[in-house]
Amino acid sequence: MSRDLDTLLKEKRIFKPSKILTDETNIKKWMETQDVHDYDELLERASENPEWFWNDLARELEWFKPYRKTFEWNPPHAKWFLEGKFNIIHNALDRHIKGPNREKIAYLWEGESGEVRSLTYIELYKEVNKFANVLRGFGVEKGDTVSIYLPMILELPIAMLACAKIGAIHSVVFSGFWAKAFKDRINDSGSKIAITADGFTRRGKIINLKENVDKIMDKTPSIEKLIVINHADLPVEMHSPTDVWWHEIMENSDTECKTEEMDSEDPLFILYTSGTTGKPKGVVHVHAGYAVGVYTTMKFVFDIQEEDVWWCAADIGWITGHSYIVYAPLLIGATSLIYEGTPDFPDPGRIWGMVEKYGVSVFYTAPTTVRMFMKFGEKWPEKYDLSSLRLLGSVGEPINPEAWIWYYNTIGKGKCPIMDTWWQTETGMHLITPLPISKLKPGSAVKPFPTVIADVVDDDGKSVVGGGGHLVIKSTWPSMFRTLYKDPDRYVEAYWSTFKNIYLSGDVARKDEDGYFWIQGREDDVLNVAGHRISTAEVESALVSHPGVAEAAVVGKPDEIKGEEICAFIVLKENYKLEENLKEALINHVRMEIGPIATPACVNWVSDLPKTRSGKIMRRVIKAKVKGYPVGDISTLANPEVVDEIDKLID
Ligand code: WTA
Repeated sequence: MSRDLDTLLKEKRIFKPSKILTDETNIKKWMETQDVHDYDELLERASENPEWFWNDLARELEWFKPYRKTFEWNPPHAKWFLEGKFNIIHNALDRHIKGPNREKIAYLWEGESGEVRSLTYIELYKEVNKFANVLRGFGVEKGDTVSIYLPMILELPIAMLACAKIGAIHSVVFSGFWAKAFKDRINDSGSKIAITADGFTRRGKIINLKENVDKIMDKTPSIEKLIVINHADLPVEMHSPTDVWWHEIMENSDTECKTEEMDSEDPLFILYTSGTTGKPKGVVHVHAGYAVGVYTTMKFVFDIQEEDVWWCAADIGWITGHSYIVYAPLLIGATSLIYEGTPDFPDPGRIWGMVEKYGVSVFYTAPTTVRMFMKFGEKWPEKYDLSSLRLLGSVGEPINPEAWIWYYNTIGKGKCPIMDTWWQTETGMHLITPLPISKLKPGSAVKPFPTVIADVVDDDGKSVVGGGGHLVIKSTWPSMFRTLYKDPDRYVEAYWSTFKNIYLSGDVARKDEDGYFWIQGREDDVLNVAGHRISTAEVESALVSHPGVAEAAVVGKPDEIKGEEICAFIVLKENYKLEENLKEALINHVRMEIGPIATPACVNWVSDLPKTRSGKIMRRVIKAKVKGYPVGDISTLANPEVVDEIDKLID
């Protein structure tokens, strides 16, 4: 990490997109209609007059009743498109089936073992309607929550869209989490309906989802129905009267269903994400503002055009998938590819072969994936014809200049601009990102999206140029999260209190003399492992729930491919016998408590953790040691000898 930071600070290369490319972009064409001459003028006019910008884009979507006011910003609370009547599904599906997109393919799907499926807009519309009718039949009403725990199969977007259609709030749980996460999220949201599948395969290995879900169902008192999709033909036990098969309840369901007219500000979904405490935060997004935000970024950042084939290679269980697999592509009427499996399975040519096979033109992935493929070597992408690509995207973690250049040359053949998009579960849409007309610097997310005011500030809230500081946002944006589910105080405290009424992102960044942003990573106790957000507190509480563990501290250890790895320091209970394989047992324990993404890469035994005299764990000391930074002032440490112990472990 520190080496990457050094290269980041020295990076001076600039890449200009070609004029042919920029002339054809959606943003360029839009600027012409608005008499805006260049990128700088666009940013300036948009931040001076956000209403002008957003009204023009909101007009491209259909409203049941026009809104009266673009936004009301009483920090930290925002409302957008006030008094409008709207439903994101009317715009994502209903309006397309009346127009030229009716027979267009909405989703192309490929499973890990190579099976394929596709759905046109009209087919997707009918499936969504059928499932929406099923949900209504089970008594789901506007405002109810539905919990979804599915792999990357087409029933996942169908279920989400069906909820939104009838005004229910979906809460999707990433299928790579263990079922305990599903239980906690069901109970927090009080869902009556849960949806899962029998199972799926990962690297050819069967993951039995339903079997896991069965273990938690007696601890979820609100659940009335568990809907099960038969995806992998696994033997499952169905428990009456709760469990029902998706294919049976869908069989005779009507293909027409009325779309609920929602208020602009009605909630669309909850998505839980990691914070600095062990309790995940239920981020709430709403119908209209979210729709306008993700639609606009899809149009201007990824420049989606009529004939594009879009592939966002994220999981729908994360915000990237919610925004840029499910909602934005449908809002803009695109054809998207969904892939269920692992990118390098059965060999490292898998995803490049799919780019060729489907003629993917815009491709969006995380730096971890880029770095992993860099390691496999150029011979894999070189086997395939990647000439259909015209634009590339990056998200989830800082992309180091070396990876950027490799992505640009080896995958994009030097002709595809890279959109390094910085955003978060909370922001819903890209906030700092290039547009295809921007000059690019490898490793920089460039500048704020039009109307967004971002800054880098010191501890006193003063702007910093050149050095590192807290990345903050000083404006509202339409797809801003509105609150944390059932936790409005935490919404204010976690994000808007450090600097009053200014959004604290939790990231450290640097702004250079050209106003370009260089994101450097999290500054709080949230880890970013392969682009996944994991809180140290969650992993620590999983560790201490093991009978042998007295105390645990978890820090991120720099890793060349994943960005960070989880590194745990454990104090065992006195008299606890150091049984053989205890490290493995502990690692397994965390996998079962949270899921494979939280697997610690290293476990170290220590006699104590560095603590202040009042007994507070000084995690920053361990962090500095593991990351190779100076430890700083340790005069308040009660047990400095532990620092030497940690030192020895790290060597
Ligand atoms: C990190 C994912 C650098 C950042 C969309 C942020 C990035 C966290 C970038 C949010 C980027 C996301 N460059 N870092 N382009 N994009 N991040 O909520 O640390 O899963 O705070 O949303 O990912 O993760 P989340």
